[in-house]
Amino acid sequence: MAIKAGNMATRILVVDDDPVIRDIVSAVLRRAGHEVIALSSSKDALDRVDEIQPAMIVSDVTMPEMDGYELTRRLRAKPSVAQTPIIILTSHDSAQEKIRGFESGADDYLTKPFDPPELEARVRVLLRRTAALPSQAPQAKGKTIAVFSLRGGVGVSTIATNLAVALAQLWNCATGLIDLALVGGQSALMLNLSLRTSWADLARIPTESLDAEVVRKVLLAHPSGAYVLAAPNRPEQGEPLTGSQVSRVIAIAKEQFPYVILDLPHDFRETTLAGLDNADQIVVALAPEMASLHATASALDVFETLQYPQQSLRLALNWVFERRGLPRKDIEDALQHPIDVVIPFASEMFVPAINRGVPTVLEAPTSPVGALLEDFAYYLSQADHQQNPPATPSPAWQRVAARLQQRQQKRA
Ligand SMILES: Nc1ncnc2c1ncn2[C@@H]1O[C@H](COP(=O)(O)OP(=O)(O)OP(=O)(O)O)[C@@H](O)[C@H]1O
Ligand SMILES: [Mg+2]
Repeated sequence: MAIKAGNMATRILVVDDDPVIRDIVSAVLRRAGHEVIALSSSKDALDRVDEIQPAMIVSDVTMPEMDGYELTRRLRAKPSVAQTPIIILTSHDSAQEKIRGFESGADDYLTKPFDPPELEARVRVLLRRTAALPSQAPQAKGKTIAVFSLRGGVGVSTIATNLAVALAQLWNCATGLIDLALVGGQSALMLNLSLRTSWADLARIPTESLDAEVVRKVLLAHPSGAYVLAAPNRPEQGEPLTGSQVSRVIAIAKEQFPYVILDLPHDFRETTLAGLDNADQIVVALAPEMASLHATASALDVFETLQYPQQSLRLALNWVFERRGLPRKDIEDALQHPIDVVIPFASEMFVPAINRGVPTVLEAPTSPVGALLEDFAYYLSQADHQQNPPATPSPAWQRVAARLQQRQQKRA
């Protein structure tokens, strides 16, 4: 996905004496829309860095004249590049090497062989962190919950749509469901809403012109109280959307709705990062298998780089398959993070729900999975909602309250 000119300074200096690696790294970064200047020697890099003025430097470790750590140290000593992000690429995956890298002043560290998307993601994250962020406007009242995974098919959209509907039912309020899976997003489909309007209608409106009126016109109303900003019908229609448009739309939605749910895609593109940045809470969905565990670990790593507070993360372990999977405890140990909810395999619930466009919390609210999702929505609710029982409790609220009481009695 190309980064549009003007969004960020994107000249990247790549330093590697190995022509093959140099070409691969350069190709990955060029494909991501960056301008790349590749040099084979660290001495050259040091001599020419002032003239090149890169926005970022990606350097190999093992090089003949001067290794990557030494290069980083010397670059850091130059005022012109003291703040420039540096990523070190090495073939040694040891904590020792990692520490050496950080001690020399590098900002991030990637082990060869690397996944191109991972390099891309880390570059983007670092560029963004160094770009001066405009000061945040005062926070609006709605709570924004992002649902995310770096791997597809683990139930992100299922969780997001059920949350948006369950929260609307619980608190008798309108909720926003913003589909940021701009390519192939299915929130509207999952709620059986026809794609009359979508993000495509906002794509050409400049950020400054986006207001409550404009946004209201493109929302699709669901009978439950959820209002959906759907993904475009065709992939290219979402292409021109920028992070600043997304941030603006979320800010507007937060003023209208007590809850705004974000259905995020499996990437770290600009519009996804805007969603994550604006979230009060991030629910990371994962399945009990190695690939998903790995993707979750990478995502948590990136969140740490972005300095998202640990306490805003929630993990949802979703059994999207029936076969044996990794035990919960092993996953928690590997991620060093507790799992907040475990959703059992329940194709008999989810498949018909998706086919008919009726989320499980509406189709079967009293089934075990329906109840679980309803309880999870309650658990994610705003503190003052939880603390003050509604004047006219909704049926959903009454069900949750009854279950809470049951559990308390069991414990006593
Ligand atoms: N606990 C579960 N048990 C059985 N099937 C499930 C479960 N959770 C989700 N599914 C099914 O898995 C499929 C993928 O779910 P979903 O589309 O929500 O995932 P996603 O992470 O948004 O995927 P995508 O990569 O398509 O965006 C759907 O068909 C859904 O019905
Ligand atoms: Mg999805």
